Amino acid sequence: QEGDATAGATVFKKCATCHIVDSDTNKVGPSLNKLFGRKAGTHPNFAYSTGMKEAGDGGLVWDEATLRDYLHNPKAKVKGTKMAFVGLKDEQEITNLIAYLKQYSQ
Ligand code: HEM
Repeated sequence: QEGDATAGATVFKKCATCHIVDSDTNKVGPSLNKLFGRKAGTHPNFAYSTGMKEAGDGGLVWDEATLRDYLHNPKAKVKGTKMAFVGLKDEQEITNLIAYLKQYSQ
């Protein structure tokens, strides 16, 4: 099913304590602006975990499929990630969230 970016904005509230998407600013987590096509662990001026940097060096690039996996279970997808978030269980929620994040990836 298609992603609903408006519904995705509501899902993003779960991320917004730690992430900004509409600018380059880092918070507790790195900015998610222009995320799609980005190598994991490479946003400037953010202190990533070794696990995230190694995942990027190992070839992890953020796209629909990799983001879906990561959001399901961050610690399973990226061993040693310091992102303290359990993950999202609802497929439609993830689809909507991806549609929302994509709007800030042009
Ligand atoms: C990293 C997405 C929730 C803290 C990341 C990355 C993505 C992401 C894609 C990797 C970025 C990169 O490689 O530059 C999301 C989404 C969330 C969410 C979509 C909501 C569904 C949270 C929350 C927190 C958080 C609630 C804080 C409690 C972090 C931190 C990192 C990170 C600290 C860096 C991880 C590391 O270096 O291992 N997040 N996140 N995130 N996120 Fe989140």
